[in-house]
Amino acid sequence: MGEDNQSSSLDFILLGASGQKEQENLFFILFLFIYPITLIGNLLIILAIRCDIRLHNPMYFLLANLSFVYIFFSSVTIPKALTNHLLGTKAISFRGCLAQMCFMLALGNTDSYILAAMAYDRAVAITRPLHYTTIMSPRICTLLVVGSWVVGNTNAVPHTVLTARLPFCGNKEVASLYCDIAPLLKLSCSDIHFNVKMMYLGAAVFSVPLLCIIISYVWVFTMVLRVPSTKGVLKAFSTCGSHLTVVSLYYGTVMGMYFRPLTSHSLKDAVITVMYTAVTPMLNPFIYSLRNRDMKAALGKLFSKRISSRPL
Ligand SMILES: *[C@@H]1O[C@H](CO)[C@@H](O)[C@H](O)[C@H]1NC(C)=O
Repeated sequence: MGEDNQSSSLDFILLGASGQKEQENLFFILFLFIYPITLIGNLLIILAIRCDIRLHNPMYFLLANLSFVYIFFSSVTIPKALTNHLLGTKAISFRGCLAQMCFMLALGNTDSYILAAMAYDRAVAITRPLHYTTIMSPRICTLLVVGSWVVGNTNAVPHTVLTARLPFCGNKEVASLYCDIAPLLKLSCSDIHFNVKMMYLGAAVFSVPLLCIIISYVWVFTMVLRVPSTKGVLKAFSTCGSHLTVVSLYYGTVMGMYFRPLTSHSLKDAVITVMYTAVTPMLNPFIYSLRNRDMKAALGKLFSKRISSRPL
């Protein structure tokens, strides 16, 4: 117990995305622009979907949920990085560090499961257009969303509890933008074999949705290639592009980070971290709204309603 108290009273150090002063300044300016755009963009997506009855269907409900996750996902790391930079400190309490790790794992996993649910939704829409409304019923849609949150949290809590029990006695410099599990484990002064095994198990659970996404798209592509393109199929297919872009951005960066040997703090790591913590959540609303006519119409309506309801 004594050890635990000691480690929780001493702060950890967040070295930042790259650990280099000039680059940290650049990242600070970048975050200063990216963060508000992320919040506003994703909030607008949620509002537009809420306010337009034509968008009350599973595809857009899932998209609103994805935006909801991204709002929190970027809020776990970026405000802390911004305030630390402003205050000229790099400190984070042990509890803050664990909380950051837990939220990032939970939201990251939930994110990937929602992306899988979106892929499944598209696959059903394209391959079973006549049964779409019965297969993707409101109940199933809610189940997919709740399931994503449950699995996401289940895959975060054990790692957090296991890490909380580790002794940290020497170096407390976390070589990352936020308290990420791998650089944190490396700092412990005890045997972390079990933690690392659990981390790989967690990575496997995180990868299940990617497998589902790949299967869904193989299903979709065989269908699209086999059947002479009808208007409905083409329309459903057009939204796949946006989804695939977000999936590649997200999985490409996260896998680039974790599915390779742990190296030291490099600029490449920094860029990858900034990509998945900040850039992907920011791009999400643009990717979906710029290419989607219904989404654009809903956003337009949202603005015109606001303007016309303003007293002159
Ligand atoms: C998430 O999905 C559920 C179930 O379809 C839906 O009722 C809810 O409104 C969505 N959440 C957001 C933030 O739109």
